[in-house]
Amino acid sequence: MRIILTIVSLAALTVTAGFAADVTAGQATYNKSCKGCHGADGTPSPGIAKMFPGMKALSSSEAQATSDADMKAIITAGKGKMRPVASVTGPAVDNVVAYVRTLKK
Ligand code: HEC
Repeated sequence: MRIILTIVSLAALTVTAGFAADVTAGQATYNKSCKGCHGADGTPSPGIAKMFPGMKALSSSEAQATSDADMKAIITAGKGKMRPVASVTGPAVDNVVAYVRTLKK
């Protein structure tokens, strides 16, 4: 019985670790695939902001109020004027969302 419990809890640990988002990897993805429009700190540059009126700073409480699920959908399916970011898939989506959370002011 004890052995079975140990195996079950080890498996649970592995699964949890497997799902833990990697903020450092997320930052690399952000710099490559998001920064050009959203800016290093989540604030779009004036030129970009002019091109896409209505774009919110990712650091803003409004953008941060977006749930993880909705943020993932924005990345993979797009939203309004933002096209889906096809290069970001699988765990990279979770990682980049985790990084965007660190931009919160
Ligand atoms: C080509 C420019 C561009 C790129 C690249 C881009 N975005 Fe966006 N993003 C936008 C625009 C424009 C909007 C506003 C969409 C709208 O509401 O019309 C937006 C909106 C968002 C929002 C919702 C915030 C809001 O304004 O409501 C999130 C979250 C977001 N982007 C995350 C990301 C992430 C993460 C990446 C990288 C994986 C990324 N974006 C890449 C242009 C871009």
